Amino acid sequence: MTRIAVVGSGYMGGGMAQVFALAGHPVVISDATAEIAEANLERIRLETQQFEEQGLFPAGASATIAANITAAASIEEAVTGAEFVEEAVPERIEVKHATLRRISDANPSGIIGSNTSTISITRLAEAVSHPERFLGVHFSNPAPFVPGVEIIPHPLTSEATITAVEQLIEGSGKVGARVKDATGFVLNRLQYALFHEATQLVDEGVATTEDIDAIVRSTFGFRLPFFGPFAIADMAGLDVYAFCYASLQEDFPERFATPAILSERIARGELGTKTGGGFRAIDPARIPELVAYRNRAYAKMKALLDELGPSPFDEPAAESQS
Ligand SMILES: NC(=O)c1ccc[n+]([C@@H]2O[C@H](COP(=O)([O-])OP(=O)(O)OC[C@H]3O[C@@H](n4cnc5c(N)ncnc54)[C@H](O)[C@@H]3O)[C@@H](O)[C@H]2O)c1
Repeated sequence: MTRIAVVGSGYMGGGMAQVFALAGHPVVISDATAEIAEANLERIRLETQQFEEQGLFPAGASATIAANITAAASIEEAVTGAEFVEEAVPERIEVKHATLRRISDANPSGIIGSNTSTISITRLAEAVSHPERFLGVHFSNPAPFVPGVEIIPHPLTSEATITAVEQLIEGSGKVGARVKDATGFVLNRLQYALFHEATQLVDEGVATTEDIDAIVRSTFGFRLPFFGPFAIADMAGLDVYAFCYASLQEDFPERFATPAILSERIARGELGTKTGGGFRAIDPARIPELVAYRNRAYAKMKALLDELGPSPFDEPAAESQS
């Protein structure tokens, strides 16, 4: 069990507090004032109760949350003696700097993580004493249900800090991945690249927002819970990717220049799973197992989507159906 403090108990702070508390850790939340922290604790308790009733949290979750999360009157009270502090105040560097200064003054030895979406961890570290104990610990929204967490050391973060956070994240049922401190990290850089291209397609009149969302959800987005872009490229064939790049370059020569790491693999005869080599290592003897997994995954994904039905974005409101 790790004594945890969450500073900034809003949307993300509340969700992360739930995750850690459900994993059995004692969590103290704090906010700009004692009143806000108390009100947010009440909100977290109510929300947990609803999640339990809806079957989204395990039976007994409300009792666990009630026992494990408390609200402190101040940031200092919350973080004193905590082994891990997660900062989740608004995404403004001056607010984060001031908060991190207060955290590190009150707690000179605990590990400190920031949930920043976009701000450089190296810049945030300027406000932390003993910066080797500081790093980005970036949960996604909604934190109780989205498994992935970006773990972002800055150049001075110690290996012991990173390992301790990786263990805490894995032990709380989440999936951590290490990322260098580069603008946008991995998640937002990729997410915004997709969004940027999608907005260009709308601007050019190629498709509507509704049709683009439908295509993303029902084609390549459908694969993404199971395979990332490199596994997908390996399965498609890197030579196929090179042909597609050549075609895209006719109209977008700079935006779709063939990546060097793709050309290098093709030059070595590594064309993906069909040649036993590509971006991701896999024993060729396991290809039939991979294909079977893929087919099972996609069939089950289709069944899940059929069971859930469309989201309210895509389902007409009840009154307009009649
Ligand atoms: N909302 C998302 O989808 C999302 C996803 C990933 C990461 N993040 C990041 O998480 C962080 C928090 O975002 P959020 O969506 O939870 O915001 P939010 O507005 O819901 O919560 C911020 C909380 O910080 C409190 N706060 C404000 N000033 C404070 C101070 N000086 N000291 C202590 N507490 C203070 C607010 O009262 C509020 O409770 C941001 O860095 C954001 O970029 C957000």
